[in-house]
Amino acid sequence: MKALTVQPGRKDSLEIRDLPEPPVSDGSVLVECMEIGLCGTDVEIIAGEFGEAPRGTDFLVLGHESVGRVVEAPTSSGFATGDLVVGMVRRLGSNPCEACLKGEWDMCRGHEYVEHGIKQLHGFARERWRTHPESLVRLPAELGRLGVLLEPASIVAKAWENITHIGRRSVLAPSSVVVTGAGPIGLLAALLGVQRGFDVHVFDIFEDGLKPSLVRALGATYHHGRLSESGLSPDIAIDCSGSATVIEEVVKIGAPGGVTCLVGFPRAGTSTQLDLGLAALQFVLGNRVLLGSMNANARHFSQAAAALTAADPAWLERMLTRRIPLEQYREMLPYRPDDVKIVLDFAPHPI
Ligand code: BGC
Repeated sequence: MKALTVQPGRKDSLEIRDLPEPPVSDGSVLVECMEIGLCGTDVEIIAGEFGEAPRGTDFLVLGHESVGRVVEAPTSSGFATGDLVVGMVRRLGSNPCEACLKGEWDMCRGHEYVEHGIKQLHGFARERWRTHPESLVRLPAELGRLGVLLEPASIVAKAWENITHIGRRSVLAPSSVVVTGAGPIGLLAALLGVQRGFDVHVFDIFEDGLKPSLVRALGATYHHGRLSESGLSPDIAIDCSGSATVIEEVVKIGAPGGVTCLVGFPRAGTSTQLDLGLAALQFVLGNRVLLGSMNANARHFSQAAAALTAADPAWLERMLTRRIPLEQYREMLPYRPDDVKIVLDFAPHPI
């Protein structure tokens, strides 16, 4: 069976390999891959800057954003042939910490976890893969291929859950929410903000095109200027740009009692001259919280499924800007200016 693989640490080693069928020891549920989404983490892995092969091998099957169909499952698994499913990314490693053992593997206190398509565990970019029922999420059939957005949506569902928890310490009644970066994560963060009834403002560098149009279609406000010049002092800010200069702006701006959440970080070597003393003063005097958020657990995948199911499918479809047949994988990169989510198509026939 065909799989899209890399040799971690080796630049441009992306290739299709012929692999044996997944062994039953991988799990009782056999899934046929429909689509794989590409994200910044995959780009880093393809560039040889990130990623680890499973122990004993020198290659890694790529793909942690997926959607597929169950082709074989024991009755006891709770899944049935034809179910639309997504595999969760993180799994417990050999020495799970307390958080991992409670199912909060996204809050792992060590580095013992493994991640499909990223860290020591083959990914989902193969024609068929197996897993254990507890690592699978079932989606409503009507979501179809849009289910490929579940994993990125789980990342922002976790961010929103954390923000909400922090808000409960006192009064967090946002008059405005700022999202920086209108890539897939930023757009999904904005979607969840709008679904919560907030006045959402999204910042990016594009003057026009698909990203501003997608933001406006949500009923949110799009800005292409600098956040610091917007006059906004948001109660909630979520940085999805991962850019050091943008993060500096986000950290500097925010209402008292507000929460600033970072879901991305800059590449090594890109830094700014942030005045940490001044930032500390603003955070202390304003009781502000700076929060980092990474990965997602089963609860966040369920929250994400509810968010996608409630969203306009036509809007979600517009996010999938390029759908590339597996054999043409070399056409995925580089990103084009109007790309939002690039997906690899494993099943060319519509379901
Ligand atoms: C994935 C996360 C993962 C992180 C670090 C992200 O792209 O969405 O699930 O934890 O990369 O490996």
